[in-house]
Amino acid sequence: MKKVSINTLLKWKQDGRKFATSTAYDASFAQLFEQQEMPLLLVGDSLGMVLQGEESTLPVTIDDIAYHTRCVRAGSPNCLLLSDMPFMSYATPEQACENAAILMRAGANMVKLEGGSWLVETIKQLTERSVPVCAHLGLTPQSVNIFGGFRIQGREKEKAQQIIDDAIALQNAGAQLLVLECVPSQLAKQITQELHIPVIGIGAGKDTDGQILVMHDMFGISANYMPKFSKNFLIETGSMQAAVQQYIQDVEAGIFPGSEHSFE
Ligand code: KIV
Repeated sequence: MKKVSINTLLKWKQDGRKFATSTAYDASFAQLFEQQEMPLLLVGDSLGMVLQGEESTLPVTIDDIAYHTRCVRAGSPNCLLLSDMPFMSYATPEQACENAAILMRAGANMVKLEGGSWLVETIKQLTERSVPVCAHLGLTPQSVNIFGGFRIQGREKEKAQQIIDDAIALQNAGAQLLVLECVPSQLAKQITQELHIPVIGIGAGKDTDGQILVMHDMFGISANYMPKFSKNFLIETGSMQAAVQQYIQDVEAGIFPGSEHSFE
């Protein structure tokens, strides 16, 4: 696979080419993903749930993410590698800069932060200091205790408008990518059209520029349950390599996610 940069994804957005991405946590799977030409990998703080067996992402630390970032970078030298800033590791801009440096030194190309316009100053400071940022709006799992559960966000008119305003503010602050999680498809479509940066959806319908899945969901091996927005690609293909290839093809062809994997 040729080295992927943010410019690759920007060009794909401009060309209307959709792309599939996944989480990854270790070198072996990262290598498998790279062999299948997965352009972007995320070391998600979902590792708290799928690797550590926790009920939420809150217990994950910056050292956990740095460790798994090193592992994934070793297996996939060419992907655009995003690493999650875990809960309370970016409560202030200064703290965000210190912790982001740890992840960039571990091999990340970009860090991902959950939250709305309260992050404007933090994103400005990170990008001014050469740390690229991916924003994350909608169902932001670190806020599970504020939301009262893992619930779809942005169904009400005012909440939807808030997400649109936040997306524009974060892009203007310097965010170069946006993840939209569990929002109505129509809202995700509108935001994807309004922003010039690539938008990656999970539970956000088929009209975002890219899609992301937690790899355990793609293989149907998540311990507890399969989210509505996910699909077990292993069951119909029979091998992990074929499952990843099918996922990539279905996203590029606009077949996945279907309406059964999306929210109104
Ligand atoms: O932590 C994670 O895996 C994520 C994805 C679900 C986008 O943030």
